Amino acid sequence: MPRAEDIVFPRQRERFEDRRKETHQRKLLDEFFDHGTLLAVSRLVSHGLIDSIDFPVSTGKEGGVFRATKNNEFRAVKIYRISNATFRHLPPHALEELRRESSVRNFGGLIYAWTRREHTILGRLKHAGVRAPLPFGHYRNVLVMEFIGTSDGAAPRLQDALVENPGALYEELVREIGRMVRDAHLVHGDLSPYNVLWFEGHAVLIDVAQSVEREHPAAPALLRRDIVNFSKFLGRLGLDVDPEEFLREVGGDLVGPPTPVSE
Ligand SMILES: Nc1ncnc2c1ncn2[C@@H]1O[C@H](COP(=O)(O)OP(=O)(O)O)[C@@H](O)[C@H]1O
Ligand SMILES: [Mg+2]
Repeated sequence: MPRAEDIVFPRQRERFEDRRKETHQRKLLDEFFDHGTLLAVSRLVSHGLIDSIDFPVSTGKEGGVFRATKNNEFRAVKIYRISNATFRHLPPHALEELRRESSVRNFGGLIYAWTRREHTILGRLKHAGVRAPLPFGHYRNVLVMEFIGTSDGAAPRLQDALVENPGALYEELVREIGRMVRDAHLVHGDLSPYNVLWFEGHAVLIDVAQSVEREHPAAPALLRRDIVNFSKFLGRLGLDVDPEEFLREVGGDLVGPPTPVSE
């Protein structure tokens, strides 16, 4: 089994000149890379999905995203924290679905199922031609996917990006959300400028684990909320968008439980 210190932040470990950085890194190691997670990571290494975890891209309450390397290519590794806090922020409909799907009772099991769910949904999105990270694999609470960015770093979230042409962004969103609804049969449900990356003039959808089937009873309200959020964001960028039209353009009429056929 590869040693943890050879996999997680291997390069930074050689440099000890910056004490503060070192303390920060120790803290991250303690927070995210508990024994079980380290085992999961080293399993992904021995299965050839990554060579090393290089540095954190984002760390939050539910988990962290790290840049990783495989040969001379970058990958992104998302690690869900194994704790009750992880599910505190999740929408109840998604949790319900997960419980039904996975028949697991304990938190660890739920988190593994949640990780698998994100992997499966990313696969469905790729298959439908939606711009989203390509999933490479998962094990326990660790997901490996395509890294959206360059050697200069991860692509910015729309929230932080400089969008020069809001009209073009609107077209991007209509296309990607439309494909998600029409071809992948899914509603994202947590779409916001925080969960869309802006990369080389294209919108890339991320953070998809809470997505639901478009037939789900909650799907119409979730899609509407996603669309209203983005209409407001586009409004702040100076583009006047009619949410009803936006909703129609992404195939909103296809969303919701099938209407019963009357006799
Ligand atoms: N595949 C990826 N490539 C590059 N950066 C990513 C990727 N996935 C996530 N990120 C970065 O990590 C952040 C958190 O990821 P996200 O999936 O939204 O998790 P959460 O919001 O649950 O913490 C994103 O806002 C983005 O900056
Ligand atoms: Mg997010």
